[in-house]
Amino acid sequence: MADVGWTEKAKFLVTGGAGFIGSHFAKRLVKDYPGARVVVLDKLTYAGNLDNLRELEKEDRFTFVRGDICDAEKVGEVMESCDVCVNFAAETHVDRSLGDASSFVLTDVYGTHVLLEAARRFGLKRFVQVSTDEVYGEILGDPVSEDSPLMPTNPYAASKAGGDRIAFSYYASFGVPVVITRCSNNYGSHQYPEKLFPLFITNVLEGKKLPVYGSGRNTRDWIHVEDHCSALEALMEAEGVEGLVFNIGSGNELSVLDIAEKILRLLDGSEGLIEHVTDRPAHDRRYALNTDRIRAKVDWASRIDFDQGLSDTVRWYRENRWWWEKIKSGETYRKYYEKMYDR
Ligand code: NAD
Ligand code: TYD
Repeated sequence: MADVGWTEKAKFLVTGGAGFIGSHFAKRLVKDYPGARVVVLDKLTYAGNLDNLRELEKEDRFTFVRGDICDAEKVGEVMESCDVCVNFAAETHVDRSLGDASSFVLTDVYGTHVLLEAARRFGLKRFVQVSTDEVYGEILGDPVSEDSPLMPTNPYAASKAGGDRIAFSYYASFGVPVVITRCSNNYGSHQYPEKLFPLFITNVLEGKKLPVYGSGRNTRDWIHVEDHCSALEALMEAEGVEGLVFNIGSGNELSVLDIAEKILRLLDGSEGLIEHVTDRPAHDRRYALNTDRIRAKVDWASRIDFDQGLSDTVRWYRENRWWWEKIKSGETYRKYYEKMYDR
């Protein structure tokens, strides 16, 4: 349970709260702040899913509003009565951004601006911009600190860098109490099965191949979604952090092949399912973060052991086939999969 201060009776706005991380976060807020109200504003794109919020349906401190963060009127209506905004709303898949980046630029940059403008107008007490480690681009040397240059290499990462910097500018220019977070790759339950973990786990469960881009030696720092959310909660209410950027990572650096092998072992799948396919353009070989700042400022550390987190995650997808089969059997997903992988 979080250490509650002014947030005890706050009204939280969670944008993008029907997606993977935002839904975990909204559920945590309702549980950790028994006097608070939580509003989710989400456009329900292909990645937004009300099934992720099912357990909050009967909760009277929770409200869901369908809407686009680019719609200033809707954002104004929803934000007027709120104290805090945590912005998860974004187009998030690198491969899709390589196909058509327009929705990424619109939501991740312009949409963030619309939210910040409303936060400024209504005097919000805190605005957390959920950015990403991908804004740094490929990191081959020492783990990077928050002061390292931003060198995004794909349109998703570049759009997130735009949102990240617009957020900072609203702190510097207008004093909006912004905090910016750059987290590494998340894994956990309720993740849309286009991302590595849910794609590979559900493919093994269906007896399908695991499409590994290129050599599969690219590494990421994998963090459990609940560890990411605990860091966000701590930063949301910390004092003296306005205008700062915080890296969030766990130091669990593993390659795509490592992940594929671990998933196959947990599910008794054959290594023959691994299939090397054409590499993604501008595929960053590695991300690695220095997390000294968040450790020092809010005494945060990731707590979930990777192998335990992975085994719990695999169990969740095994036991909740209804959740992902509904998505994977839908036309939107099938068309995407065909275009991406069945060439
Ligand atoms: P997701 O794709 O699962 O969810 C995104 C949500 O945003 C969906 O519910 C979608 O409907 C909603 N959305 C999209 N466009 C919108 C718009 N215009 N208006 C309102 N809602 C809109 O993404 P996720 O993995 O949960 O990521 C959440 C945030 O965290 C994103 O900002 C992402 O950049 C950031 N992030 C993700 C990771 C990761 O590993 N997944 C790591 C670091 C940062
Ligand atoms: P992804 O989950 O798309 O996250 P990101 O690109 O934002 O880090 O991909 C994670 C890693 O897995 C990345 O190195 C690309 C690789 N990958 C594959 O090899 N095959 C796939 O089908 C996917 C989706 C990803």
